[in-house]
Amino acid sequence: MVKIFTNPDSLNHFAAEKFIEIGIEAIEKCGKFTVALAGGSTPTSLYQLLTAEEFRSQIDWSKVFFFFGDERNVLPDREESNFRMAFENLFEPVQIAESQIFRWQTELENEYEIAADYQEKIKEFFDLKENEFPRFDLILLGIGDDGHTASLFPFTEALGETGKIAAANWVEKLQTHRLTFTFTTINNASNVMFLARGAAKAEVLREVLEGDSQPKKLPAQNVQLKNGSLLWLLDEKAAHNLQ
Ligand code: 6PG
Repeated sequence: MVKIFTNPDSLNHFAAEKFIEIGIEAIEKCGKFTVALAGGSTPTSLYQLLTAEEFRSQIDWSKVFFFFGDERNVLPDREESNFRMAFENLFEPVQIAESQIFRWQTELENEYEIAADYQEKIKEFFDLKENEFPRFDLILLGIGDDGHTASLFPFTEALGETGKIAAANWVEKLQTHRLTFTFTTINNASNVMFLARGAAKAEVLREVLEGDSQPKKLPAQNVQLKNGSLLWLLDEKAAHNLQ
């Protein structure tokens, strides 16, 4: 489902309410809320809003466990780190315990080790058997103007990686490896919420949501939940080219 908001504030407000609603339900049902955060700039203001009294007081944060749908191959204190963005805007203000945060261990030797380590951490946390995949209560995603989501970029190898939970992905245009959930992991979630704002996303959203199926060129098209709820939250500028 696609929901269009007149401005970023109303988009964030709705997203924060959904975050809390999904979280409370998960905690009531299973005693914990597992959420994978998106990186980039779009979700920053949502994370800040969650720390506002209005939302912060609505959930038992000690039962929320944070993961990252993707990460840059940089140390956690670097400007580009998705972990650092979440730490500064959400974890630190709400004082989330380190034991509740599962970040990609980018201090490890190389990107393949980082991905394998993260996969093991997830398997252990979700107590998964061989070939089982985690079912996150919520995965937040953004979308790039090239149609990538998480760090699943157009025509990259990880797009077709179905056997892994987490992968290292060489991105030619960035000349670097990125670290990312696979679509198998994303599509196994109970809830996925895309957040997209601004005119720069208008054309790619039209292609992804209303254009032909081109899953290699437009990776976000691969997000098709097996058994879950997919929500696209767009502001008017991002939704401008949609029919
Ligand atoms: C990342 C994100 C990435 C992001 C899009 C959109 O690590 O950068 O996970 O998938 O969501 O690139 O980024 P903006 O929100 O900055 O437009």
